[in-house]
Amino acid sequence: QRKDALQIVNDFAQEHYKHNLWNTDAGKSIALGYLKERGFIEKTIKAFDLGYAHRDRKELTNQALQKSYKKEYLQELGLTTRNDQDFFSNRIIFPIHSLSGKPIAFAGRILHTQSKAPKYLNSPESEIYHKRKVLFGLDLARKSIRDENKCYLVEGYTDVMMMHQNGVENVVATSGTALTSDQIRLIKRYTDTIHLIFDSDAAGTKATLKAIDLILAEAMNVKILPLPEGQDPDGFIMAKGHSGFQKYAEDQLLDFLSFKIQFHDKDQGEDPVSQSELIRNILSSIALIDDGITRHLYIRETAQVMGLPEQTLVDELTIHLEKRS
Ligand code: CTP
Ligand code: MN
Ligand code: MN
Ligand code: MN
Ligand code: MN
Repeated sequence: QRKDALQIVNDFAQEHYKHNLWNTDAGKSIALGYLKERGFIEKTIKAFDLGYAHRDRKELTNQALQKSYKKEYLQELGLTTRNDQDFFSNRIIFPIHSLSGKPIAFAGRILHTQSKAPKYLNSPESEIYHKRKVLFGLDLARKSIRDENKCYLVEGYTDVMMMHQNGVENVVATSGTALTSDQIRLIKRYTDTIHLIFDSDAAGTKATLKAIDLILAEAMNVKILPLPEGQDPDGFIMAKGHSGFQKYAEDQLLDFLSFKIQFHDKDQGEDPVSQSELIRNILSSIALIDDGITRHLYIRETAQVMGLPEQTLVDELTIHLEKRS
């Protein structure tokens, strides 16, 4: 079967990149050195099957062709470019695994941030990789997601890894794309509750607002853990450690109403015009919830927090719901 053949090629590539990282001079000094300098220990690097793509742009392609893997497959998988060069060169390789732990795609991180090249390169879609339906780390996280009955959702590969290393294993990331409904439904197999911990910057906040609506629309609970300005989960948990992180999460976790209110009040006033804008924004999220009872509970909370009669909000929500249908 064609899919099996493609998988065999990716299995080979993962082994090749791992071999480079652990058993070659450049891998050990440049790549492993980089990862250790960032605070990753060998156990974590191994658990995530990280690797290294050498600088030479012929190496992986030549070895694969010698093993009689079809060039067509190498190209479909994005391992080899149209002019027969290795796609990944001098990058740390993060395999993206299927639920059963098979490498279905790769991300390659540049080593020098001063370069103008993109920080991460990602495999293209292929017959075995549909990026909208994959979450990075889910193969390692799913047992813990079920045990903890919640899933942390973060932006990056290194965020997932550093949280694991600090004993928080119920964590996944989208892989270089915006969150999709398919990805949320994947999480829903294991839990109804998602806690968002996105980077504390403008892009992360924007992504958080979008994720909230997508999660509510899938009839799931969403909470948000805002990090101190400019931080991401990787650096944050590395600095705080397991118990520091847990303590922070206990104290700072917000439901989506509080998150929207806090976020809004930061840069806008509390005058009536601005407050009504906030309320409409909250209502637009509540309108995405299918279940009438859940909707009612959120309406009641909003009425209490904003100091408005419930009926006013119900009337306004009706307008939203009519617009939707
Ligand atoms: N990303 C990507 N391509 C880029 C930049 C980012 O695909 N050029 C994706 C990656 O999945 C990355 C995530 O977006 O993990 C978050 O981006 P960013 O915060 O910039 O990177 P970090 O995950 O923090 O990576 P690092 O800690 O290695 O800098
Ligand atoms: Mn397809
Ligand atoms: Mn970021
Ligand atoms: Mn980041
Ligand atoms: Mn980071």
